[in-house]
Amino acid sequence: MKALIIGGGGFVGPYLAKHLTEDLGYTVTVTKTEKETLNLDGVGIANLNILDKEQIKELLVNEEPDYVFHLAAQSSVAYSWKNPSLTIDVNVKGCANLLDVLRELEKKTRVLLIGSGEEYGHIKSSECPIVEDNTVRPGNIYAATKACQNMLGKIYADAYGLDVIMVRAFNHIGPNQLPMFVVADFCKQVADIEKGIQPPVIKVGNLSAKRDFTDVRDVVKAYALLVMNGRRGETYNVGTGNAVSIQEILDRIVSMSECEIKVEVDSAKLRPVDVPIIEPDITKIVDEVGWHPEIDLNETLKETLTYWRSK
Ligand code: GDD
Repeated sequence: MKALIIGGGGFVGPYLAKHLTEDLGYTVTVTKTEKETLNLDGVGIANLNILDKEQIKELLVNEEPDYVFHLAAQSSVAYSWKNPSLTIDVNVKGCANLLDVLRELEKKTRVLLIGSGEEYGHIKSSECPIVEDNTVRPGNIYAATKACQNMLGKIYADAYGLDVIMVRAFNHIGPNQLPMFVVADFCKQVADIEKGIQPPVIKVGNLSAKRDFTDVRDVVKAYALLVMNGRRGETYNVGTGNAVSIQEILDRIVSMSECEIKVEVDSAKLRPVDVPIIEPDITKIVDEVGWHPEIDLNETLKETLTYWRSK
């Protein structure tokens, strides 16, 4: 099988490329932006600007993939408040470009669109854990763009028969994630405190929010199973099904260090709106494609801290 990973220069792309090539024997090409550097063994690499429809068309004509994994995104909720236009361009226009090229080429290629648990937004307590056909009430700009992407996927599947599957991925974590995300941020700070390059005070944002954290290596296995066995036009939650508070994440990471660490709330890390809890029901993906997360949260936190200690 031939797979094309669009937007593979970020956190998830290299893990997905490794799983597809090493575990499943796929031939894989990964796209990155011109600015990104990427070295992956046994994988083709191409530059792509997702806002340039002609470039997408040329790539699809040349590659002729069986599967496309659309990972290209501005993926930070925090940054989407600071740069809404860029977030909308990449996440909405980029996706529309891809879908429209597939329509024009009349390709039978299967596409997996990576959306977010953030799409559900302001979840009522009676709706938790949340199922895929729940109303979406996005609470931030990033979430709105991902909800829009999901709607575009469904529209192209229904109107043109495109073979599109949509994912709503919840928080995923592991070594090599940028420290703009909470687990990488806390692990980096603890490692810096241990190295003596940060005073023994960890700066945090909102600790009361509850989020569902899955190891990135489990997440990419879900993507592969969905592209092989998911149903066209359907949306699938990808998470563990258990939300934990950011306070608990902080406590677990701090307890892995010998250092005495004080906690200080940094107002710059607080967001205009932070949805209190986002917890998925994962029955659909478990029942339909047989995926289960396997890696324990503590194991991922430990490995992420080890990664930052080694940097
Ligand atoms: N980044 C960060 N840094 N977040 C903090 C901090 C901090 O110091 N302190 C508390 N938080 C809280 C945030 O307010 C949020 O409630 C939670 O920790 C998680 O924040 P992030 O790790 O930045 O991720 P996110 O939930 O906003 O978005 C991630 O998950 C989505 C799926 O649920 C991203 O990976 C998205 O791309 C993804 O779609």
